[in-house]
Amino acid sequence: MAYFDKIKEKFEKLKQKQDIIVLSIESSCDETSIAVVKNGREVLSNIIATQIEIHRRFGGVVPEVASRNHILAISNVYEEALNVAGIKAEQIDAVAVTYGAGLMGALLVGVNFAKGLAYSLAVPLIAVSHVHGHIAANYISHKDLVPPFICLMVSGGHTAILKVEDYNKFDMLGTTVDDAIGEAFDKVARVIGLPYPGGPEIDKLAKEGKNIYKFTVADSLKNTYNFSFSGIKTEVVNLVHNFIQRKEEYNRADIACSFQESVTSELASKVVRACKNSGQNNLVVAGGVGANSRLKEKLQALCEENNLTFFSPALKYCTDNAAMIGSMAYYMIRDGRGLAELDLTAKPNVEFGTIK
Ligand code: KG4
Ligand code: ZN
Repeated sequence: MAYFDKIKEKFEKLKQKQDIIVLSIESSCDETSIAVVKNGREVLSNIIATQIEIHRRFGGVVPEVASRNHILAISNVYEEALNVAGIKAEQIDAVAVTYGAGLMGALLVGVNFAKGLAYSLAVPLIAVSHVHGHIAANYISHKDLVPPFICLMVSGGHTAILKVEDYNKFDMLGTTVDDAIGEAFDKVARVIGLPYPGGPEIDKLAKEGKNIYKFTVADSLKNTYNFSFSGIKTEVVNLVHNFIQRKEEYNRADIACSFQESVTSELASKVVRACKNSGQNNLVVAGGVGANSRLKEKLQALCEENNLTFFSPALKYCTDNAAMIGSMAYYMIRDGRGLAELDLTAKPNVEFGTIK
């Protein structure tokens, strides 16, 4: 029997298996991560080799440097993931990998490693969207969370409000018309002289500042679930440049606080409106910016006011990690989706919609 026919048969059988152990791989940006996840919610290991220190001196991720460092790290991360989980490679039921969205060269390292591993073990290879993985991070942190719910997806590359109808059914209600929110955090941080990645730095510094600059967010999108962050980003850049030109001192904490206040209000109010208008009582946040303390505070308060329940992943599952990919892969396997052939390639952009 041809190789892929055999794998298809295994994949069909796997759907029915009582316990499913997935080894998952994430390399879309600057973290090389491999996890072992049992039944979608039990994390046996989640190893993350971060490159943050390497990219910091460049002020942001340098794609080629990221790819090279993934290559250097991935074999050791794999060994450690198996060791910490206390399993042998033969116990892996499926290999899952982020195939997009992300940096092409970085993704290819994970995808190729996954293909080699899946082939050598003769197990199904599951192609997982990074965005869907971020949402699934919540299943790890909240064992009783089940769809449907409304999700605010906020990361370095994505900003969206989604209706998660089922584990594999996503309806996009709104997205950004220009920059992603994480990009805006990182850019504003850079302009006021904070190191990469800027989001957590702004979060910290904003606690010492006051909301004195009334930065604006696009009014034309008021009645939609869409976002625009390029205007506010430019406002901050211009404000800082004017201070510099006039050789005036400025308070970085006030700028960080004012920026954070206005964007978090915009995100929180729109996603709560989406919950109310669609009759959904569960609000879930996903992605790196979901780690923002002020955003979580506002979402929690608005949820209490509106009788909604708020869910956010534990901090370690908020930013990029492979456990979230393993969790998502489990629900894809149970539903008979995501089986990839060995010609799988990486994609810099992927659709948010329903998985085929
Ligand atoms: O999800 P993620 O780790 O990677 C992508 O998929 O992009 O998100 C990274 C983004 C970066 O822009 C980073 O600055 C931002 O998440 N971030 C934060 C915080 N922690 C990470 N932004 C605001 N506040 C934070 N505490
Ligand atoms: Zn991410």
